[in-house]
Amino acid sequence: MKQVKMMNDFEAYLVSLFDHRKESKVKDAMMYSLLNKGKRIRVKLLFAVLGAYGQDCRKGYAAAAAIEMIHTYSLIHDDLPAMDDDTLRRGRATCHVAFDEATAILAGDALLTMAFELAVQAGEDAKTSLAIVTECAKSAGFEGMILGQAKDLAAEQNPVQKETLLEDIHIYKTGKLLTLPLICGAILTNHHSDIENWKTIGRLIGLSFQIQDDVLDVTATTDQLGKNAGSDEQQHKSTYVTLLGVEAAQAKAQALFSQAFDCLKKMNIHKEVIEDILNELIHRKK
Ligand code: IPE
Ligand code: IPE
Ligand code: MG
Ligand code: MG
Ligand code: MG
Repeated sequence: MKQVKMMNDFEAYLVSLFDHRKESKVKDAMMYSLLNKGKRIRVKLLFAVLGAYGQDCRKGYAAAAAIEMIHTYSLIHDDLPAMDDDTLRRGRATCHVAFDEATAILAGDALLTMAFELAVQAGEDAKTSLAIVTECAKSAGFEGMILGQAKDLAAEQNPVQKETLLEDIHIYKTGKLLTLPLICGAILTNHHSDIENWKTIGRLIGLSFQIQDDVLDVTATTDQLGKNAGSDEQQHKSTYVTLLGVEAAQAKAQALFSQAFDCLKKMNIHKEVIEDILNELIHRKK
């Protein structure tokens, strides 16, 4: 399937997951944040790994929906006043601004729990689904994304001076959820021995992606980003820009992407689609 058709088809699937569900303000808030103009990078990565093993992307719909729900929940909570206190996300008012703070907290919680409804259906057999559930929980949890978010917030009071410490924040808060679709792709296609390679690639892409996010926060406009430019400085964040400056940060992101390409080269898979996505990421403007 061509990528545009594939992603439109997946969007329709995401919408359908809310059919015949009880109406509520929380449901409206979940749909408002999830079914908005996200780049769907994690979904594309999962489909690319399935393609790399010659499998149809439909095999990954439930896992991809679970991951996108976890990611969207992380964004809703990231934007809350107690965290980054942001008012714009994916080109629209953030969830707590469009609804209210309590509803945004609940919508985030509900997307996280709904993700596990999907994760248990993700595999063709119970063992595979269980592995997907476990990876989702580990990547999102207190030793995964949440650990990174906690470290990111702590650094607001205690600016990070060492690159290795900042790398650690980025690998957890962003790298964990960007690696998750790569791991899930390998699990769904029974390529367990490749998981360590995918983890290495995910770590590189994740770190690079967050460095770009730090750079874009100071180089792009609010219109381009669909979120408030300059938010990091306002929130006193430690970022690759504060530590290295824009140019060195950009160079670091590029170097990490090259390393990810090198790792891919060593794998015995169909690489075209995943390489296309990496190229799309390297040149991203939002
Ligand atoms: C935003 O993620 C949060 C970060 C990890 C930098 P994305 O840039 O993938 O956000 P959406 O899904 O496109 O809105
Ligand atoms: C977000 O990092 C990471 C997660 C949401 C887990 P940022 O706080 O830099 O993301 P944006 O810039 O708000 O999208
Ligand atoms: Mg944040
Ligand atoms: Mg933020
Ligand atoms: Mg950011």
